[in-house]
Amino acid sequence: MPSSNTVWHKPIVRRTDRERLNDHKSTILWFTGLSGAGKSTLAHAVEARLFQMGCQTFVFDGDNVRHGLCTDLGFSEEDRAENIRRIGAMCKLFVDAGVIALTAFISPFRRDRQRVRDLVAEGDFLEIYCRASLAICEQRDVKGLYRRARAGEISEFTGISSPYEEPERPELVVDTGSHAVEENVEMVIHLLKCRGIIP
Ligand code: PPS
Repeated sequence: MPSSNTVWHKPIVRRTDRERLNDHKSTILWFTGLSGAGKSTLAHAVEARLFQMGCQTFVFDGDNVRHGLCTDLGFSEEDRAENIRRIGAMCKLFVDAGVIALTAFISPFRRDRQRVRDLVAEGDFLEIYCRASLAICEQRDVKGLYRRARAGEISEFTGISSPYEEPERPELVVDTGSHAVEENVEMVIHLLKCRGIIP
């Protein structure tokens, strides 16, 4: 809860002013999925595409954010909740700044994702489930983390010793296990057009 001694300052330049200037709306594109499912790859590819189109964008990436803003957090259920809470609050500010914020966090718990959804206005949170089976993610094992988790060297590893709760009603499901990145980029761009976020 905010301190009772703080007062919200109303800006002169509003979100709608920024959106008009940018010629697109702002929103949160929330990519969720297992480690190694391809969340970051897809988020960055979508950003590159939007950037080419002249959109204001920014990607928040799990590993990167944990090097700074969330360096004090681990992977317990409580720490993950706090991680997602902070990112959600940050994304809300970016939406006010007129930006299309893209996030690539495992965000394994439905409750935590729902909290971010509830934090922003209806339609400002587009949940994109990067669906790839545990078997495929483990086979890829780009960072060697699954091998270490199986060996007991990493505790509370998502999919192995900590749960991943699939989205129940995501705005989009992309098959990152078998579809090419470009194909999935097209699906996200299509979603943004259908929602009137980009022209
Ligand atoms: S969470 O659950 O949303 O708070 O996690 P996130 O901030 O996205 O961080 C996930 C990245 O941290 C690395 N890593 C782990 N992931 C899952 N479980 C455990 N125990 C763990 N320990 C380290 C891993 O590189 C994740 O990155 P991605 O890109 O998802 O593979």
